[in-house]
Amino acid sequence: MEIKVLNDAKELKTEVLVINKFEGEKTSNELANKFAVEKDKFEGKFGQTYLLQTLGQDNADKILIVGFGKKDEFNAPKMTEAVAKSVKKLQQIHAKKACFDFDVMCDYGKSAAIGAYIADYAFDKYKSEKSTKVDEITFTKFSKAEVEEGIIYGEAMKLTRDLANEPAAYATPTKLAEVAQNIEGITTEVFDKDEIERMNMGAYLAVAKGSIQPPKFIHMKYTGKNPKKRIAIIGKGLCFDSGGMDLKPASSMLTMRDDMSGAACVLGVMSALAKLQPELEVHGIIAACENMPGNGAYKPGDILTAKNGKTIEVDNTDAEGRLTLADAICYASELGVNEIIDIATLTGACMVALGTSVSGIMGNDEDMIANIIRTAKNSGEKFWELPLYPEYKDSLKSDIADMKNTGSRYGGASAAGVFLKEFVSGNAKWAHIDIAGTAFLEKPQKEFISGATGVGVRTLLNYLK
Ligand code: BES
Ligand code: MN
Ligand code: ZN
Repeated sequence: MEIKVLNDAKELKTEVLVINKFEGEKTSNELANKFAVEKDKFEGKFGQTYLLQTLGQDNADKILIVGFGKKDEFNAPKMTEAVAKSVKKLQQIHAKKACFDFDVMCDYGKSAAIGAYIADYAFDKYKSEKSTKVDEITFTKFSKAEVEEGIIYGEAMKLTRDLANEPAAYATPTKLAEVAQNIEGITTEVFDKDEIERMNMGAYLAVAKGSIQPPKFIHMKYTGKNPKKRIAIIGKGLCFDSGGMDLKPASSMLTMRDDMSGAACVLGVMSALAKLQPELEVHGIIAACENMPGNGAYKPGDILTAKNGKTIEVDNTDAEGRLTLADAICYASELGVNEIIDIATLTGACMVALGTSVSGIMGNDEDMIANIIRTAKNSGEKFWELPLYPEYKDSLKSDIADMKNTGSRYGGASAAGVFLKEFVSGNAKWAHIDIAGTAFLEKPQKEFISGATGVGVRTLLNYLK
């Protein structure tokens, strides 16, 4: 889909004109007011749509009215959702060209373009029959700059969603490294197994041992002008999580190609930074590998030594994400960055607690967490804080090592959080985002089709900006 901006659209001939209606107000179009509002009592509740055939009485063949709800409740995330909804409707009626002429009080160009991208997304490269797409949309009321920024975000989300949707046989650690190396405007270093060994990443390496896919430790770096802060973003990069020797049941394994959604998010974010030029130094870090029960696999009862020297008794090989993240967090801490944010499909417990539309967040700095939660809200994503009380550490006590990698059946998301905290050092502020429930949908939800959502991309990009 091509997205255009045209600020004078008075005489524009188009297939479908898309306009908005706030509850209790008229639309900007006479014909729409006469037939949809007065005659058919179309209210314009948020997300409602109404399609009007103009039969030659307007420059457009059809008018699509989208409900914006109450005017004082309208905001940027709602613009994203409303545009996504409209594009879905356009796909349904097989429209090829549309002009969005919204009557709104601010420049919502960025949010609108993001909405168009979300709705336009399909993962149909393996299907003979492709999904129906709109060829071209034109926005009239927004600035080019805002729309262009939205397009950068949209492209980043698309990269993230594609990588997470790809089968594990395609999106291997080696492939992720290759994608990282091809991102323009950043530098990328990739460390192989021998180098990972030399860096003493014993926890991460243990997880990788059961697979024939070699692990790749990926370190990307974006350097903006006059960097005001140095930030590391770490993505969990389990290209497939079978559970390892503690093998998952078949039904739980079915979607475990998505266990690199955190890594895919970091790649998406890094791909956009050179275009957005924030005044920051951003490190993108991925400890990519597979968790498989092959011959060399690590076993329950093994004792691993992480990069910072702490020892871990393996209680369950399916709690592998925190082992790979432990070494990645040590590595990021050694860089001496001001802030570390990790994003990971880490625990089924987080999904049980918060569901599929809310991600969990925890960390060691209240202000940073509050800031990220607020940013998420303005970005159209929902984050909720989970606690990291020291009590959660009790369940990780080991008789033979510094800690175990899992503990009690309860409070699993927080237990994983306190485990990760053990590997943050120096003065770094740290936040951990658990996207186990939100990264990958088994069925469509709101503006998202089933599969990968690209969660985290919008929030992290806005946070970094
Ligand atoms: N990748 C999973 C978590 C997950 C579950 C992500 C469901 C997406 C959907 C993680 O590696 C895992 O297996 N966690 C275990 C931890 C347990 C063994 C303590 C879990 O949540 O069951
Ligand atoms: Mn697992
Ligand atoms: Zn996992």
